[in-house]
Amino acid sequence: MIICACGSRSGFTYTMCSEAREGFLARGFGVEVVYPINMDISHCTGCGSCENGRGCVIDDDMSRIYDSFETSDIVIMCTPIHYSGPSSVMKTVIDRFQTLWPRGSAGPRYMACMMCGGDAEPEFRGAMYVFKALAITAGSKWLGDLRISGTDSKSPSEIREECRGFISSISSAASL
Ligand SMILES: Cc1cc2nc3c(=O)[nH]c(=O)nc-3n(C[C@H](O)[C@H](O)[C@H](O)COP(=O)(O)O)c2cc1C
Repeated sequence: MIICACGSRSGFTYTMCSEAREGFLARGFGVEVVYPINMDISHCTGCGSCENGRGCVIDDDMSRIYDSFETSDIVIMCTPIHYSGPSSVMKTVIDRFQTLWPRGSAGPRYMACMMCGGDAEPEFRGAMYVFKALAITAGSKWLGDLRISGTDSKSPSEIREECRGFISSISSAASL
């Protein structure tokens, strides 16, 4: 599964996820791309109801993401950098994975992330901490991260090329 935290389907984040999807399909794998911006996903309220291990009490589109998260071999989280962190679209999804805490390692075998920032030297560390925290909570092995900087002056074809190389390298690392 690819969680594509794009704000619209005309941006770089969407392009990255499309290229990643093509890369996996070309290797003969099924890929589901989800777009939280177009889904009904509420914020985690920290109510603590999931502490009994039976999941989240909020009934919304996050159930689709929970299902795929647990059954996918690889989950790739893709976000633009917003104020030196993941976008709020991505963070809203990640906070809902608080359900994993009482359940232990219930995540995919592998996780990876793809990030893009407009600056020549975006601060990727904030987003990395968040993604790694999720991977640790889920019990997933970290496969790698793609950090694309300078999108303010890059073309979609340059972005696509960087994504192709990344998908090739994580596919090899996961022996896909
Ligand atoms: C709210 C907001 C905050 C941003 N903050 C940063 C930032 O901290 N560092 C950076 O390099 N780019 C920042 N950017 C630029 C985006 O990361 C960049 O334009 C990215 O390519 C956007 O991806 P998209 O085309 O999929 O929307 C920000 C953009 C927005 C809208």
